[in-house]
Amino acid sequence: MSQMISTNTLRTFNNFETPFFYYDMKVLSDTVAALATAQQKYHIKAHYALKANAEKRVLKTISKGGIAAECATGNEIKLALETGFAPKDIFFDGVAKTDKEILFALKSDIACFNCENIQEIEIINEFAGRLGKKAHIAVRVNPDVDAHTHKFITTGMEEDKFGISQWAFDNLIKVLDTCGNLVFEGLHFHIGSQITDLSVFETLCRRVIEIQDWFDSKGYTSANLNLGGGLGVDYDHPLTNWLPDFDGLCHTISENLPIKSGQQIHIEPGRSLVAQCGHIISRVVFIKEGQKKKFAILDCGMHTLIRPALYQAHHEVENLSCVNEQDTYNVVGCVCESSDTFAENMKGGKPHRGDLFAIHSAGAYGQVMNMTYLQRNLAPAVYSDEI
Ligand code: LLP
Repeated sequence: MSQMISTNTLRTFNNFETPFFYYDMKVLSDTVAALATAQQKYHIKAHYALKANAEKRVLKTISKGGIAAECATGNEIKLALETGFAPKDIFFDGVAKTDKEILFALKSDIACFNCENIQEIEIINEFAGRLGKKAHIAVRVNPDVDAHTHKFITTGMEEDKFGISQWAFDNLIKVLDTCGNLVFEGLHFHIGSQITDLSVFETLCRRVIEIQDWFDSKGYTSANLNLGGGLGVDYDHPLTNWLPDFDGLCHTISENLPIKSGQQIHIEPGRSLVAQCGHIISRVVFIKEGQKKKFAILDCGMHTLIRPALYQAHHEVENLSCVNEQDTYNVVGCVCESSDTFAENMKGGKPHRGDLFAIHSAGAYGQVMNMTYLQRNLAPAVYSDEI
């Protein structure tokens, strides 16, 4: 029997059409509680990045757990408001905030715009003026720090499209000096995702101190310092090591970033809160016995979980139906592309047509990145406490 799923639960899975996302709500609430404990212990305020998973039940669990929100679009702000996050707890990030989104965010009285671009700052100032409001902004700085992660999810290097670089700071200050409808809240950073080496955050803290000092010297003091998201999870041991090191992250930050009086440190974890509570449950459609390889072909695919095809990401795959008889095979998806592969030369329970498989750690950047390629249906969510 799987470590994750009892025989009873496995039996109930037969009531649902596959593939679906199965959320273990106990794992989610325990993960949220661990982050809440760490944020209290280290006086750090955590904002969940809705982009990782935007299912309403997931969001409600997180908002109830005392975590604030980070949104990347107007629709995410709308969803955050609907699921219990207070406007004063909402940050708005993103490289391409549209006019409509900026106006909506201003009217919603969100806490802060994290601005990535000098033009964006001018536009927010203009729109705030039109509405007779003051917009609270932080400047997203590109600190040129290597996050040592996959290049597609590295965001804090000079060559990346994100944030304002040091060479542009003088011009930035000139613009900020002319913006009468803005309140400068501080600095924002986000250097990448799935960071497993906490020393990267030490390096980031050193850069934050230097950059903060420079802004201080120009009269722009930071009430808020935001270090963004990025904490990685253990994709190799999703069932035994599912709790991310929130304490380690917050400890590293508080050791390396001295706070000034009245100052608040923020982080924006996405993946680490939701990755391990989600699993894709899928069925084997056919077995292909090749001359060189054997394939278990599932009814989910890269349209259900794009991470392996897009980032060569590893997710543990498990045959839930057969565990005693072992075999070596590839586990592939149902889409007509060879990158649609979940596991190569996997040693696991021998696959048969109709077996149920789980793809683990699919709670983050899984369901939100679904698509309907080949006109397939979107996989629905099933919650452990509703079956
Ligand atoms: N804050 C900002 C400004 C971000 O851009 C992101 C993620 C986060 C916070 C949350 O980062 P996290 O704690 O989840 O690492 N689809 C990719 C990940 C893209 C992350 C984009 N930004 C994946 O599946 O790995």
